[in-house]
Amino acid sequence: MKFKLYFCLFLVFSCGMAVAQQHKPAENFNQGWKFFLGNDSTASKPGFDDSKWRKLNLPHDWSIEGAFNEKAASTTNEGALPTGIGWYRKTFKLAAASAHQNFAIDFDGVYKNSEVWINGHYLGKRPNGYISFRYNLTPYLHFGSKANVIAVKVDNSEQPNSRWYSGSGIYRNVWLVSVPADGIHFAHWGTFITTPKITDKVASVNLNFTINGEPDPREYVLTTVIYDGNGKRIKTLTKDCNLTQGSTIQVNQSFNMESPQLWSTDHPHLYKVVTKLCFISLIANEPPVLVDTYTTTFGIRSFNFDKDKGFSLNGKPLKIHGVCMHHDLGALGAAVNTRAIERQLQILKAMGCNAIRTSHNPPAPEFLDLCDKMGFLVMDEAFDMWAKKKNKFDYYKDWKAWHRVDLIDQIKRDRNHPSVFMWSIGNEIREQFDSSGITIAKELVAIVKFIDPTRPVTSALSENKPDKNFIYQSHALDVVGLNYHTEAYADFKKNYPGEKFIATETTSALESRGHYDALSDTTLKWPHNSKSKFTDGNTDMTVSAYDNVAAYWGTTHEETWKIIKKYDFLSGLFVWTGFDYIGEPTPYPWPARSSYFGIVDLAGFPKDVYYMYQSEWTDKRVLHLLPHWNWQPGKVVDVWAYYNNADEVELFLNDKSLGIKKKQGDDLHVAWRVPYQPGTLRAVSRLNGKVVLTEQIKTAGKPAKIELIADRKNIKGDGNDLCYITARVLDADGNMVPYADNLLKFSITGPATIAGVDNGQQTSLEPFKGNQHKAFNGLCLLIVQSRQISGKVSVSASSPGLNGVTINLVSK
Ligand code: GAL
Repeated sequence: MKFKLYFCLFLVFSCGMAVAQQHKPAENFNQGWKFFLGNDSTASKPGFDDSKWRKLNLPHDWSIEGAFNEKAASTTNEGALPTGIGWYRKTFKLAAASAHQNFAIDFDGVYKNSEVWINGHYLGKRPNGYISFRYNLTPYLHFGSKANVIAVKVDNSEQPNSRWYSGSGIYRNVWLVSVPADGIHFAHWGTFITTPKITDKVASVNLNFTINGEPDPREYVLTTVIYDGNGKRIKTLTKDCNLTQGSTIQVNQSFNMESPQLWSTDHPHLYKVVTKLCFISLIANEPPVLVDTYTTTFGIRSFNFDKDKGFSLNGKPLKIHGVCMHHDLGALGAAVNTRAIERQLQILKAMGCNAIRTSHNPPAPEFLDLCDKMGFLVMDEAFDMWAKKKNKFDYYKDWKAWHRVDLIDQIKRDRNHPSVFMWSIGNEIREQFDSSGITIAKELVAIVKFIDPTRPVTSALSENKPDKNFIYQSHALDVVGLNYHTEAYADFKKNYPGEKFIATETTSALESRGHYDALSDTTLKWPHNSKSKFTDGNTDMTVSAYDNVAAYWGTTHEETWKIIKKYDFLSGLFVWTGFDYIGEPTPYPWPARSSYFGIVDLAGFPKDVYYMYQSEWTDKRVLHLLPHWNWQPGKVVDVWAYYNNADEVELFLNDKSLGIKKKQGDDLHVAWRVPYQPGTLRAVSRLNGKVVLTEQIKTAGKPAKIELIADRKNIKGDGNDLCYITARVLDADGNMVPYADNLLKFSITGPATIAGVDNGQQTSLEPFKGNQHKAFNGLCLLIVQSRQISGKVSVSASSPGLNGVTINLVSK
């Protein structure tokens, strides 16, 4: 045994520094695909001539490349963009020296109904557009000079099949995975790390490994090294394994970690586990032979839902400041890009958001990796419907055949992420209204608990009467999740005695960024009922960005947060939504094509209410003034200020005081009613008489010039990294012109391309792909993507009648 241990430790030390961050020894398989939009059943054949097909790299979403169309089969609910059928093919060679290895292909997500062939052999179909899946390629591969062909058919033609924009295509990453030749290897999603007991002083850590392969008489040893967040090795564990029985075995290791560094939303400490499986050579003095390596990231944290006190993380009370997010990345559509997800999360983090609900489907793996690293709690949601449909061609059609497999795969894939703190088995599921809800809820919860007994399960319910809600009646949920119905919170403890609670979805307030209907004292519920889509409103289809408009089933942001804040038993909320998303353009019809619900618009520009949350959810000093200051003389305008860290705010118009205001009671802002005069509106916040912050808005003159502001001047020359550039239309004195809608043209020199353009306007029918876009209320967004070359990149913006501008970036 000593001998084995010595050699395995040697192996660990010699490989330790080179351990990759990925969870499996996989090669990114995104490059060099061919694409055809349309159907050709012969394209699955290896000899098919795809030379005329378009060349592209994945991830790819063909819907986002298309034109908005009122008549689109997908309807405005899905963004009014093209859907249909598309084919992808990739031709690749494998070295003759690899012939002893096994290969598999991993798809992180394909929307939807993907079918895959390797060298003409059919590998299978996966209807669910949000699930990750693997096919074994080994028996059908060629090695050496003969090429292999993977063909993928994607069928998103049956419409409508979603209540929001889905995207179409292989929109997440693809990986080529190699596993050892003799077949003994870690299973797909083959580790499960749990931390059943945690105190300040010690955490017990259990590691479970699933190992697959044919029975094998050789002696194996499993060596696991645990690294802390600084890459320091803190523990090594070894264990002999016997693989003589059966084709799947479970191996457990466990240890006590002294002084664990806990994962939290403020300090998201991550540990890394590198596990090596070696067999012991039968030849004396030969070192053990490394067979397979598996890397897993995990965190140590405990949490609790209390029926009276709400949520706590690591023993400390924590209100869940969550938002719901759909998966699209604005102008990039559904095509996954790690930097694009990171930017969304950075914007939300700066607002004080600490939790995301992945409404209403499993997210991209990169999203969870980022939430682990950045400190977000995640409610990982499985389904938007079960056996009963919400749309004619939605997942209800696949429910019977696939729901078990899809749910198991989701939980197995995501159960090591410390960010994932609960599972949701469904959103506003129709079965809550009939007794089948009891049976299905029980079945789904049992599946989840079988794969992961460590996390609570909820479901986002919309029927708030306990005796009428059959999912609730299943008594299978650990935490009751309720969407909307804030009016029911006061009686919750009476109606749901002993239950723990989370507001799975709230608010559904509506805003267009930078648009204000001058008075703000009337709260509108809109549309007035489910039948009247458009009974009143603005002819330009804007919604005022004072927080005073909500869908009739929702509440304004302030109404919602006030009530969540009031009760301790309310663990927290998930606001619908963090960002605007494509599709579901409530309350307006075409040409509205994206949602108005976001705290942040589709381009990533915060709406004003963002600062209400920031003033409440962070300790940062906040003073934010709205609206803009360009009105018709004499117009009476409401001026609001969100602030914190101060006891009063004084407003000045052209240096004349309009009075001091203080938030009273549960106020979340202060307001003045001001007859408009052009000039400078200035707010000053003070604490104990000392100035904390000053904020001013000036009446802008005519558009005169363009300003470009890059979020980062240095990007990676890896073909994926992005630079987000905000274009602002300014007057001659440098004030942003709040009504500017000038058409901006962009050009780039150097190794980068334009990945997307947008302005956050819900009714814009301009394409997201292109080199020009109009500004909306003074702002426009340009997304620049690096190429796999280093160099200087110059980005220019011009517009007739405006002074253009050029900025420089470096890509390396
Ligand atoms: C909810 C639903 C969400 C979204 C939202 C819009 O009822 O769960 O998916 O449709 O309404 O307000």
